[in-house]
Amino acid sequence: MHRSNWIIFNFQTGLFMNNPRQNWIIYSIVTVVILVMSTEIIAFINAPNKTTPVLKKEEWTAPSLFTDRTIQGEERALVIYGEELIANTAKYLGPNGSVAQITNGMNCQNCHLNAGRKKWGNNYGAVSANYPKFRDRSGSMESVFKRVSDCMERSLNGSALDSNAREMKAMIAYIKWVGHAVPKDSTPKGSGIKPPEYLERAASPEKGLVVYAAKCQSCHGANGEGQMAADAKSYIYPPLWGDHSYNTGAGLFRLSRFAGYVRDNMPFNQASHESPALSDEESWDVAAFVNSRPRPAKDLSKDWPNISKKPVDHPFGPYADGFTEQQHKFGPFKPIVAARTGK
Ligand code: HEC
Ligand code: HEC
Repeated sequence: MHRSNWIIFNFQTGLFMNNPRQNWIIYSIVTVVILVMSTEIIAFINAPNKTTPVLKKEEWTAPSLFTDRTIQGEERALVIYGEELIANTAKYLGPNGSVAQITNGMNCQNCHLNAGRKKWGNNYGAVSANYPKFRDRSGSMESVFKRVSDCMERSLNGSALDSNAREMKAMIAYIKWVGHAVPKDSTPKGSGIKPPEYLERAASPEKGLVVYAAKCQSCHGANGEGQMAADAKSYIYPPLWGDHSYNTGAGLFRLSRFAGYVRDNMPFNQASHESPALSDEESWDVAAFVNSRPRPAKDLSKDWPNISKKPVDHPFGPYADGFTEQQHKFGPFKPIVAARTGK
């Protein structure tokens, strides 16, 4: 019997055969395999993201200390303490704080929800990837330390901690850890605050009062005073205006920041970015109402050394454009944007 050097797979019997007349089978198989492989290779070259996953901006979710075991030892202890300080700031640094009495009694978490890990909740996702960075408000390069100090002096209407204080180191370590997986210089979708669309008209404090009474007052109080916990150390519902609220230099005192934060997050636990409880109009109006109530003033004379860099909704003059303080505070903002951009 003639013996071939080839060993061939016989499809009928499922056995390896050495029949040369069945060589065409191996040729067909090889051809098919080559065809499939080359189409796969071409697909790979055309769309490398399909098979080499990169961190997509919209896919950012905050890390969890339960699952992240990469940080250990002292670093881990610092991050855990930092989270505790962000969530329960008043307990440590408030008017009755156990470490120092240097803030107004609010918690960082009141404005940076879930200790700064909530999507669209003014989270810290972009911080590690973008600091140090140049900020026009101070006209200088700012470190995370400077940025945290800013919120302590403005949003918490208090004084900053020394850069060597364990509490400061812990908050910085925690904030950096929250965004540690975000690629340098990128901003994940859902970080910070996204303002609602500008209205055609000025935001109305009068209309905002109606929104406030219907949708905010039950928790934040008739006088925006909030509600203290039984231990009188921290708030269950933080204040929105008055002596214990953020001062006029705080981010939330800008209408777009307040409106964006509230539209995506308030009433607490009843609203989200995907299904807000307030319309854009209600968000702007309630922002105008709350930010026209009395609150602590901050000396801002050193801010915005280049006045042409002031944001459209910066509520204090002088300005490089001809618009009034009133319009910069309440809008309409579209004409200001148009004058700046020519659009
Ligand atoms: C009253 C509300 C409020 C409180 C309380 C508050 N912040 Fe902020 N914080 C803001 C706002 C508003 C911004 C600006 C967000 C924006 O412009 O998108 C901000 C920005 C920041 C940023 C920069 C974020 C970025 O992506 O650039 C850091 C860091 C920060 N805060 C840390 C803290 C820390 C730490 C505390 C507590 C010690 C704190 N904040 C308390 C409102 C607050
Ligand atoms: C069900 C109770 C509840 C309602 C209703 C509610 N909030 Fe809040 N709000 C909270 C709580 C609780 C926090 C703090 C969240 C935290 O610390 O995790 C908060 C935080 C805030 C903050 C940031 C902290 C501060 O005090 O400056 C603003 C601004 C705010 N709310 C505005 C509003 C507005 C405007 C409305 C109405 C549209 C509203 N809230 C309705 C419970 C509520």
